[in-house]
Amino acid sequence: MLGLFITLEGSEGAGKSTNLGYIHDYLVNAGHDVMQTREPGGTPLSEHIRNLLLGHEYDGMADDSELLLMFAARAEHLAKRIIPALTAGKTVLCDRFTDATYAYQGYGRGIPLERIARLEDWVQGPLRPDLTLFLDLPVELGMKRAGERSAPDRFEKQQMEFFDKVRHGYLDRARQFPQRYRVIDASVNLEQVQSQISTVLADFLESRK
Ligand code: TMP
Repeated sequence: MLGLFITLEGSEGAGKSTNLGYIHDYLVNAGHDVMQTREPGGTPLSEHIRNLLLGHEYDGMADDSELLLMFAARAEHLAKRIIPALTAGKTVLCDRFTDATYAYQGYGRGIPLERIARLEDWVQGPLRPDLTLFLDLPVELGMKRAGERSAPDRFEKQQMEFFDKVRHGYLDRARQFPQRYRVIDASVNLEQVQSQISTVLADFLESRK
């Protein structure tokens, strides 16, 4: 039987890294053999593509190039790490996945969603996450929090309006796929965020017993 596929998404500054560690430890404590990874990235080639996508060397790359690079990184990641881990019965915990492509390249950049859906079917076949947690917070608050960190990458340099579209993209998808999406209010303090996450994980794991 395939292992569980769990993805974490979040607006900028939503505390994704901290909460990823929390989710990882929660799953390990619940007895799961966890393979944690990230997108774009997760294999040597995909990490190389990540550097092209996030760095500033190719500022202004065409939207379609950005989209196709995301899926090239994903195809490699699926073939070399995600599918082998799921096949071995592991629980895969992935920091961002295709929902990010819909949110950023679709809603954010304005690429037609059907085009993304075609690539999704091509690259993933029927594979979709079993559970997606979206750490949500108002764009202004997220940017304030993110602004307190190091130099911005190519995505972090986008304007407020872009992130508003991205956020609404995630929320739209959450409404479209209520069976696998859980929206976490990330505007509250860390303890309250983690209490929401543990409730979601407990319910989800119970439903899979
Ligand atoms: P992160 O590791 O900080 O989440 O950085 C990844 C960045 O890449 C983030 O700004 C979102 C963006 N991204 C996309 O635009 N499309 C995608 O498909 C993925 C996976 C990430």
